[in-house]
Amino acid sequence: MPISTTSTSRIRKAVFPVAGFGTRFLPATKAQPKEMLPVVDKPLIQYAVEEAYAAGIREMIFVTGRNKRAIEDHYDTAYELESQLEASGKTALLEIARSVVPDDMTCSYVRQPRMLGLGHAVLCAEHLVGNEPFAVLLADDLMVGPEDGEPVLAQMVHAFAEIGRSLLAVQEVPPEHVSRYGIVAGEAAGDSLTRVNRMVEKPKPELAPSRLGVAGRYILTPAVFDEIRSQPRGAGGEIQLTDGIAALLKKQAVYAYAYKGTRYDCGSKEGFLQATVELALAHPEVGPEFRAYLKSLEL
Ligand code: UTP
Repeated sequence: MPISTTSTSRIRKAVFPVAGFGTRFLPATKAQPKEMLPVVDKPLIQYAVEEAYAAGIREMIFVTGRNKRAIEDHYDTAYELESQLEASGKTALLEIARSVVPDDMTCSYVRQPRMLGLGHAVLCAEHLVGNEPFAVLLADDLMVGPEDGEPVLAQMVHAFAEIGRSLLAVQEVPPEHVSRYGIVAGEAAGDSLTRVNRMVEKPKPELAPSRLGVAGRYILTPAVFDEIRSQPRGAGGEIQLTDGIAALLKKQAVYAYAYKGTRYDCGSKEGFLQATVELALAHPEVGPEFRAYLKSLEL
């Protein structure tokens, strides 16, 4: 079967699947999206959108669901707030509010009418993505690039420019954690790259083919849409992205990219708290006082 070619090797569009219920954060997520929970002073979704923007992407596509209006409002103009700040001369705050949506960034929204899994959520964005490679960012994975290097998605965009094939962000995970991740295995294929030949979702530790766990950053070729569509539905009618990618790699090379940086699993309370503490310590405004406060605690 011929490998489907893509029309461009530039990544122009990012898909943010944000339709999930975020049940691990109940009751906080009863009436507000998990992606709007703030780490220090910024909602999770904004960290992910800024990462996509820093990678040169300007078209942001949100796959939303019920109870997610706050995300659309966050990426809209806040007229009352902005005119109030303007009138009172609070220009620094006005700049913070306006900088959420840079002038050259566009946002589109598509609803996932039923929670049928991450693969289904990505498929909901197909008509907005079209026939070109695209990024997928899961905002509950907060990624911080290395101090002296690029953010994670920018690293992947550069790797994609070299190889032009789908890329999954991976990190080595402790053996006792493999059952929390999609795990990939394959052959080393150059600096930070592994050509994937197996992919398993949340394996038992004794059955895991490696310790390379997939984090919530992907660059996918549009061929993945057909593969997701052809997947049989699993338990609860769900269509998993992992299954779509596992089918894709039988037809087209897929690479795992060992990113440089730190991932915080903000879909879990522990990861969210770790991100909060570490980003607060690094925050220019509150960092020094917060450090002194933590030191004063008798732990
Ligand atoms: P998760 O399973 O981690 O998120 O899905 P969740 O379902 O919101 O959270 P919990 O487990 O109930 O606490 C990973 C990502 O995929 C999106 C979620 O919004 C999250 O960003 N997702 C998942 C969808 O958009 N649609 C789906 O049908 C499933």
